[in-house]
Amino acid sequence: MIGNDVWQAAQYLKRGQLVAIPTETVYGLAGNALDGEAVAAIFETKGRPSFNPLIVHIKGVEEIEKYCETMPEPLQVLAKCFMPGPLTLLLNKKSIIPDLVTAGSERVAIRVPNHEMTLQLLSQLNFPLAAPSANPFGYISPTTAQHVQNQLGDKIPYILDGGPCTVGLESTIVGMGENGITVFRKGGLAIEDIEALAGPVFVMEHSVSRPDAPGMLSSHYAPARPLLIGDLSTLVQKFGSHKVAVISLTNRGIVLKDGFVKVLSAKGDLKEAAQNLFGVLRECDELPVQMILAEWMPERGLGRAINDRLRRASVDISNI
Ligand code: TXA
Ligand code: MG
Repeated sequence: MIGNDVWQAAQYLKRGQLVAIPTETVYGLAGNALDGEAVAAIFETKGRPSFNPLIVHIKGVEEIEKYCETMPEPLQVLAKCFMPGPLTLLLNKKSIIPDLVTAGSERVAIRVPNHEMTLQLLSQLNFPLAAPSANPFGYISPTTAQHVQNQLGDKIPYILDGGPCTVGLESTIVGMGENGITVFRKGGLAIEDIEALAGPVFVMEHSVSRPDAPGMLSSHYAPARPLLIGDLSTLVQKFGSHKVAVISLTNRGIVLKDGFVKVLSAKGDLKEAAQNLFGVLRECDELPVQMILAEWMPERGLGRAINDRLRRASVDISNI
């Protein structure tokens, strides 16, 4: 059921059941992070392999010390400035966090979602919430309650509707690596914003197939239709005889024989594009088309995270 009753959502969670929750990034599939059975149910409901760990959501930075060992100094300034917000920190966990949550890792991914309703919900609970994005494993993350309903609606008792996600991309995951502060997953907090405070950081550019650092499976966010990325006029020339959907940042005069053009942000605003990306990918997946053609965003700001998601949603066209 979709609803906006925070108290009701809390009741389900207190009983060990799962609830989809709104955050500013994407909707999460939440359960009691301290309850092994609830955590196991998250993996099962999502169809997610248990080696891929879950993010723990808390109501405020002050709670971090309950679940984590001392925060490395370089990360403290980030926590102070960007929490609540689209930032997840990887910190050494205390034993209260079940190993299942972290897939056996000593580090837990922890974040404070910047969404009024979910912060209210967390304040009604005496446990944190483990929550991956509320999509079946490998599919596009949900940015509205309806997206969750479409795929997981019959598997969970309640979807807390907090409106469309304002950021629209998953959180940026940051921890300490061999090279100092490291971005393990690009996301809704731009790397430039982190660097403005912390100086240059190391960015993991490539997804890996079996992550033991922040899991980034290489094929992910995938629509059912093949998604091809590149220069749009070249792609349209090559594949324009098929029925296609085109995803463009601003749509600079693309003309199609047969198909649909989806614009991420008419004014070329990468924040707006991020907000629209997953919804547009889902729409394209429902259109009567044979393939989806998309263009790269500029490699700056949230464009870097959008490109990461597009790349992971795409098929390799180097052999086509
Ligand atoms: O914005 C977000 O981060 C959303 C909302 C719901 O908070 N959550 C989200 O969760 O995107 P999920 O599970 O779809 O992606 C979390 C990523 C995974 O790639 C996982 O491998 C990584 O975080 N991760 C979680 N815990 C980790 C840990 N202890 N060590 C390394 N990577 C971890
Ligand atoms: Mg996910």
